[in-house]
Amino acid sequence: MPDAVIVAENLRFGPKYSREYRVWRDAKLRARDGTRIAAMVEIRDPLQLGAGELAALKHQLACHNLAFYCCARDVDAGTMCALGRQLGLRRLDHHLCADRSGIATIADGSTPGSGEFIPYTTRALNWHTDGYYVPVMRSVRAFVLHCVEAAVDGGANRFYDHELAYIMLREREPLWIDALSQRDVLTIPGYAVDSGVSRPDISGPVFSVRSDGGLHMRYTARTRHVVWKRDTAVQEAIGFLHEILDDPDGYGCRHTLRAGEGVVCANVLHSRDAYVDNQPVQRRKLLRARYRDPLDVH
Ligand SMILES: [Fe+2]
Repeated sequence: MPDAVIVAENLRFGPKYSREYRVWRDAKLRARDGTRIAAMVEIRDPLQLGAGELAALKHQLACHNLAFYCCARDVDAGTMCALGRQLGLRRLDHHLCADRSGIATIADGSTPGSGEFIPYTTRALNWHTDGYYVPVMRSVRAFVLHCVEAAVDGGANRFYDHELAYIMLREREPLWIDALSQRDVLTIPGYAVDSGVSRPDISGPVFSVRSDGGLHMRYTARTRHVVWKRDTAVQEAIGFLHEILDDPDGYGCRHTLRAGEGVVCANVLHSRDAYVDNQPVQRRKLLRARYRDPLDVH
């Protein structure tokens, strides 16, 4: 089924539907059980989750849009895909840096020719959601990130539930939601190669609502090769968003994945600290699967 985008006429998120919004907001905040950080779920075999393990993962995802897991057995591309399928994830996003199976290896210099892409270096990655540079209809709705080997030092990830970012923005100034829901608010300029245009400009909203009712966020804090709509409300909203993302007492969480640990999430906002490897003895290595399907948490 196509992942249709409904921007203005949505129910609980639309500016006209303040009562529906309040009901959703209150349920969202209540569901977090007062916890800021998702708990770690131990899983025995990702190929076939036990009923209790699956329920625990879905509970974390329903509360936080994110679930951490730790697993004793080795995880490879096939195992990751099996884990994803049990959470409703089937359509992998095949992109430039993924292998034929659709799984990307995130390590320093791991992908031939990708040296210019920061994810495949030891450098820090600023706040973003995955796939902000793909057309809206191909949005990344979820991803699984599994740590095969941790760095010698650094490499922590930070996560911030995008639904909480939406609530924080809307509570402060509802007009900021309108501003960030414009279809041309964020443009990633295309690039040309000698033979012609390799990728066209990609424009789209920051916030959109999908046909399944899910709220999607498309965002990058990068400042180069990004064009924001010239609009005071947009600038104010982005400034406030940066404040809440970097607030140490805010809703975000920080975790350094260890070998055998992973995270499943609804493509929430995330970032990564820089890290240090000791190649060839120890080299940070993560596997990542991106999906165009929303998570099934029911
Ligand atoms: Fe990412």
